[in-house]
Amino acid sequence: MTVRIVLGAQWGDEGKGKIVDLLSDRTRWVARYQGGANAGHTLKFDDTEFVLHLIPSGIFHKDVHCIIGNGTVIDPEALLSEIDAIKKMGTELENRLFVSETAHVILPYHKILDQAQEASMGDQKIGTTGRGIGPAYVHKISRVGVRMMDLLDEDALRDKITANANEINIILNGLGSPEKIEAEPAIEQMLAAGKKLKPYLTDTVDLLNEAYIDGQPIMLEGAQGSLLDVDHGTYPYVTSSSPTSGGACIGTGLPPTSITNVMGITKAYCTRVGNGPFPTELLDETGEELRKIGHEFGATTGRPRRCGWIDLVALRYAVRINGINEIALTKLDVLDQFEEIRLCTDYTIDGRQTRHFPLNLKQLEVVKPVYATLPGWKQSTVTATVRSGLPKRTQEYLGFIEEYLQVPIRIISTGPKRSQTIVEDLK
Ligand code: GDP
Ligand code: IMO
Ligand code: MG
Repeated sequence: MTVRIVLGAQWGDEGKGKIVDLLSDRTRWVARYQGGANAGHTLKFDDTEFVLHLIPSGIFHKDVHCIIGNGTVIDPEALLSEIDAIKKMGTELENRLFVSETAHVILPYHKILDQAQEASMGDQKIGTTGRGIGPAYVHKISRVGVRMMDLLDEDALRDKITANANEINIILNGLGSPEKIEAEPAIEQMLAAGKKLKPYLTDTVDLLNEAYIDGQPIMLEGAQGSLLDVDHGTYPYVTSSSPTSGGACIGTGLPPTSITNVMGITKAYCTRVGNGPFPTELLDETGEELRKIGHEFGATTGRPRRCGWIDLVALRYAVRINGINEIALTKLDVLDQFEEIRLCTDYTIDGRQTRHFPLNLKQLEVVKPVYATLPGWKQSTVTATVRSGLPKRTQEYLGFIEEYLQVPIRIISTGPKRSQTIVEDLK
């Protein structure tokens, strides 16, 4: 039975929400495995557009069970407001949404610290979403974090929050921040949230393993993207979790031997929000055009996304570290009217041409992309329903990417709606 990881192969916002929603009619379970409400996954069906931040993108399929896995970090208030918004749309969540009791909690002070740290870094700042992600994972790794199960245990909660607040006040003071954390209001707020979230809290590792043993199909939904991975991304300009495929096992408790498919999603071009190196970034009119036609503004923060041509060197690296064996290519339609289309095939470093993706930031910042240029197709791809129905030049462009990456493109997305998608030979 299929256990498919669906993850971003670039710097996030590749269209994971759309693809996971689309594939949800083939699965029984969708689990988010890392990240938190820094994610913004957009779904579009009928005339509704919905942006999910924490809840898995299978939630609008009534026969699908959704899990927020142990590897995520959860802002209880953000989760409760998402639950409310989904219920208001008439979608039932009882016995369909399960939240890991061992996932870590983002407390109000994590958000304050995230923002204070960013403010203190000046032009070295990461450009985080300000959602408290980094500080919550710091507490997890340093073994002083609050877990979702603690929201139901007043004594444990009080001890942990009091200790955390004392430590954070020292850090805030050192950063020159005027903020001061009071433990008691945070404790009250978390106890109240815990009461409301109790029906959803459970041992999701056991639940998902039972489903796996029972032979049910499962999908594991990544947030962010491979190049934002804390180990494999463009460190320190990364998020604080592991969006790559290894993170899917850690973040759900499913074993590596269970994974059958790793789908990497890439846009037909490339974007990045926040700071950090981006070799194919276009700071000219073409970049502006990609942003305008692709509506490239962040789904979580509304920030304009940086835009550039597709970077095959970076994608080849993503294919390797994730074991990507199928590709979903999104936003093809955005390229429909371009005269010519470029694809970065190599980098030049110190006059030397290479396909190696350097992890040394100083090198990555100065690499010069080498491009292949293909003629544009100058026709709409939006209504195509089969790959062979796409313009010949579009098919050549897709073939070029497959040949370079040695991975088949199984999904081609030509618009934000479910119906604007070509799916071929997907097992
Ligand atoms: P995610 O974070 O990976 O789920 O992606 P986002 O939702 O942040 O950003 C992707 C954006 O592109 C959303 O606004 C989607 O509605 C939109 N989108 C997804 N696929 C396509 C496509 O094939 N064509 C176009 N034009 N828009 C798309
Ligand atoms: P989805 O799931 C794009 C970026 C931020 C920043 C860096 C660290 O919608 O693809 P953080 O708040 O995580 O500490 O910020 O990571 N970032 C994303 N960029 N899409 C996302 O999520 C992102 N989540 C975080 O802009 O550069
Ligand atoms: Mg997004």
